[in-house]
Amino acid sequence: MISTLDQRPSIVCGEANPMAPAWTRIVACQQESSNTASYTLQFLDPEQKKNYRFQPGQFNMVYLFGVGEAAISISSDPDKCDSLVHTIRHVGSVTFAMNRLGIGQCVGLRGPFGSSWPLQECRGRDILLVAGGIGIAPLRPAIYQLLKNRDDYGRLILLYGIRSPQDMIFKEEVEGWMDRRDFQVLITVDYPSDEWTGPVGVVTKLLRRVRVDSSRTSVFVCGPRVMNRAAAHSFLSHYVPEDEIFISLERNMRCGVGQCGHCQYGPKFVCKDGPVFSYASVRNLFGKDEV
Ligand SMILES: Cc1cc2nc3c(=O)[nH]c(=O)nc-3n(C[C@H](O)[C@H](O)[C@H](O)COP(=O)(O)OP(=O)(O)OC[C@H]3O[C@@H](n4cnc5c(N)ncnc54)[C@H](O)[C@@H]3O)c2cc1C
Ligand code: FES
Repeated sequence: MISTLDQRPSIVCGEANPMAPAWTRIVACQQESSNTASYTLQFLDPEQKKNYRFQPGQFNMVYLFGVGEAAISISSDPDKCDSLVHTIRHVGSVTFAMNRLGIGQCVGLRGPFGSSWPLQECRGRDILLVAGGIGIAPLRPAIYQLLKNRDDYGRLILLYGIRSPQDMIFKEEVEGWMDRRDFQVLITVDYPSDEWTGPVGVVTKLLRRVRVDSSRTSVFVCGPRVMNRAAAHSFLSHYVPEDEIFISLERNMRCGVGQCGHCQYGPKFVCKDGPVFSYASVRNLFGKDEV
């Protein structure tokens, strides 16, 4: 079954108390780049392990005892929910603390929260994915589903922008995708190494290298704010309709369930109404810096 924006699985910690984290154990850890690692987590409670479901694009609140919580997307295959992968860039208090944990140690999880990439609605269309840096993490579950149901879609294209070749995450997997004939993957870097022979520059420059049929293309975008804006505007100028451009937004989060107001985005809450929004639904807020 492929995800839709409307089919949200129930939160694991129970609708009655969405603030109580469920305990998980780190069972594997994969260093992806100098500041990013993927952590595989398993629920301690067999019932939670059995019942947990998520849709591509959703996130969990990851809780470190005595430190705090951070919103982290789920980067693993939605068909393999007995263990979940979170790919984390170590930038602040919670994520630095996560970096100090090892296999066997426990973290709390609340979720899954938020909306998902509209894979069901986009059946039959070309799918163009635009990822910037760690933004490929919430897109990876969608890629798994798209490849598993490859015949249900038209052309599948990934444009992936990274700072330098050493910053590529999911490297082996991305290289495997590049070898496929039914998946066009283009990568660009800001700072090339001596060995780099590929494109250099911002990810939107890659658009010159692909054919966009605006009448049948849906676009999924996830990256830094400036990249999200540039990508959305590039696709609009290629006449992709506003309601076929989907963007995953980032905001500081606390509760994750629409109660604290921390992630407010105009009249919307990114945790509850997003993080995946259609451009059409956020058009009026999108260009503004302090919303
Ligand atoms: C829906 C969603 C999904 C996300 N998915 C992921 C994901 O998959 N992987 C991932 O790595 N991140 C993800 N994030 C981002 C992550 O939630 C944030 O980076 C989070 O703030 C990290 O928490 P932290 O406590 O480690 O960092 P924080 O302490 O909150 O710091 C975050 C940033 O603020 C800066 N900062 C901290 N303190 C100060 C200060 N006093 N003054 C100025 N700057 C400061 C830090 O340098 C850092 O850049 C996601 C966010 C959202 C909303
Ligand atoms: S994080 Fe509390 S309302 Fe969204």
